[in-house]
Amino acid sequence: MSHEDFPTENPAVVTCGLPYANGDLHIGHLRTYVGGDIYSRALKRLGQETAFVSGSDMHGTPVAVNAEKEGVTPESFALRHHEKYKETFPKFEIEFDNYGHTHDETNTELTQELVRTLEDEGYVYKKQIPVAYDPDADQWLPDRYVEGTCPYCGEHARGDECDEGCGRHLEPGEIEDPVSAITGNPAEYRDRNHRFFRVTELQEYLQEFIDRLEGTSNAQNQPREWIEGELQDWCITRDMDWGIDYPGETEDDLVLYVWVDAPIEYISSTKQYTERAGADTFDWEKAWKESGDIVHIIGRDIIQHHTVFWPAMLRATDHVEPRAVMASGFITLNGKGFSTSRNRAVWADEYLDEGFDPALIRYYLATNGGFQQDVDFSWEKFRNRVNNELVGTVGNFLYRSLLFAHREYEGTPDADLSAEVKERIYDAIEEFEAGVNDYSVREVGNSVVRLAQFGNEYIQGHEPWKLDDGAEKRQVIRDCVQIAKAIAVLFEPVAPGKAEKLWDDLNEDGDVHAVGVEAALDAPATTFDEPSEPFEKIDDERVEELNEKLQARVEEASAETESDESDAEESADVTDEHEPVLEDRIGFEEFQELDLRVAEIIDAEGIEGADKLAKLTVDIGVEERQIVAGIKQLHDLDELPGKKVIVVANLEKAELFGVESNGMVLAAGDQADLLTTYEDAEPGTRVQ
Ligand code: MF3
Ligand code: ZN
Repeated sequence: MSHEDFPTENPAVVTCGLPYANGDLHIGHLRTYVGGDIYSRALKRLGQETAFVSGSDMHGTPVAVNAEKEGVTPESFALRHHEKYKETFPKFEIEFDNYGHTHDETNTELTQELVRTLEDEGYVYKKQIPVAYDPDADQWLPDRYVEGTCPYCGEHARGDECDEGCGRHLEPGEIEDPVSAITGNPAEYRDRNHRFFRVTELQEYLQEFIDRLEGTSNAQNQPREWIEGELQDWCITRDMDWGIDYPGETEDDLVLYVWVDAPIEYISSTKQYTERAGADTFDWEKAWKESGDIVHIIGRDIIQHHTVFWPAMLRATDHVEPRAVMASGFITLNGKGFSTSRNRAVWADEYLDEGFDPALIRYYLATNGGFQQDVDFSWEKFRNRVNNELVGTVGNFLYRSLLFAHREYEGTPDADLSAEVKERIYDAIEEFEAGVNDYSVREVGNSVVRLAQFGNEYIQGHEPWKLDDGAEKRQVIRDCVQIAKAIAVLFEPVAPGKAEKLWDDLNEDGDVHAVGVEAALDAPATTFDEPSEPFEKIDDERVEELNEKLQARVEEASAETESDESDAEESADVTDEHEPVLEDRIGFEEFQELDLRVAEIIDAEGIEGADKLAKLTVDIGVEERQIVAGIKQLHDLDELPGKKVIVVANLEKAELFGVESNGMVLAAGDQADLLTTYEDAEPGTRVQ
């Protein structure tokens, strides 16, 4: 079964994985929230009725452990972070229709109600299981209170998740060689009565569900082995004080496992939105109980929860199943993991304090790679993308054309929109729409950058500054103003504040956040004032300064924690020098779709104005190609002719710095070590 394209007649709910209310936000955390915000704004732009919701995840050991370190109660600790998140997201223009938290009344009640339903429907049973216990601390050791070895992959793991190895959820009692995270002593196993949810009973349902699930392919592929093979019932209670009480009587004081009440907040938060905005604006019951299009946006470490346990809960309690799960890749800083305790992070507050507009990081995070790809952040890369794309392409087009229009005509000249430009804007709208239906926020953003690129070529090609006033000149400028207006409409999801400013510069009435994509083709206002420059360049000194600050902080922090290597909380953040191998396997056929060829470099020259790019002419046996590669500073270009390289010959053409790139040269790592052949395969030979 495939779903109908967006926009549909159904109410859509876009959710972002709930952040644990347990620490400060850094820009790595922002990826899924920026993605969710862009996605929901884009849906709204297509006319889709949409609620964008999330909330803070207040319970569980991730919160309890950190609160304990500070010596405060989990409640006050979590509430403090919740308030802070609630304030911070809007500063990045991440505007939820409702942002609640899992400890509020709505979620507490709804969670208990759903668990009662599970019981009533016969999905819950009681079972005695061994639970880890620390005799010295005289305390049960749920989840993160215990560490040991993953029984599936043998890696070091926390009690409920194998976060450094295979990524699986672990059930209580499963971890091997358990050690207390409180005292470091070996833990004992003691018998306890717990409640289990019969997930195994829903195996058949889950198999069908995963086939219909849309979103990123990792969310569909990764869970198959769990669903088809080792599906287990799921322990839904814990020996803890902090959490939502298990409804009704239990012999031991049990709370619900945090992963029970956390996703239910998706529903609770939608309910709160309805309570505030009215059911005419958005009907949470229709969305969750009848016919909603539910889209979950998460990090890829929590795919199993969203594609196995959560849909099982929804099914068993008679709710609508998720339509799509978009699971993002990880984010690194200068090629290594973010580390909160080593202060190796660009903090959300810090970014804002440096005076950067939220649009820049939104654009960077959304378009730097596909959503499921890992993304690396560095101030250099950030500067390059801002300077080349936002300033060089989008800003440059907007400013030069609107300034010209203002000077020559005090606004939009009297002329009809040309068929060519109308067509081009239609195409951009289609690309934008395809981005939404392909669950690609990158495409949503790129559709606009390509349109601006077209705008630049259009104005450059027609050189209106050389024309005398007349029909032709008016036509060109009218077209450019229309492109600018289309950019305001289509760029709103990625850069809401910038779109608002542009809308204002264009002297448009109404609210750019409320218009649909079709407004891109509505006639522009006839007069407008001198425009402002939408984006500012970031210069090299600035980048140096930012790098120095980061470096200094990391050094300071590591001096403080020198001998404190056993920081358990940290292990998740630290990655080895190399990224782990992608979990998603591809089939041989998929690999065969890549047309890789041996090629010989004929000529290599730097591209003027670009720091890193070189233009290569290569012989790929069947023809000569021009390829742009980011190797200008990394290789002596004069040395390259005659060298053999490997080229992706069937990559889509692209344009970088106004230079066409027809293929890609393969290279390894940050230093762009070029791939070559071992013996003498000649140009044109297929690599397989
Ligand atoms: N707090 C969890 C985490 O950061 C995510 C919870 S998402 C939800 O891993 F599905 F439970 F809501
Ligand atoms: Zn494992």
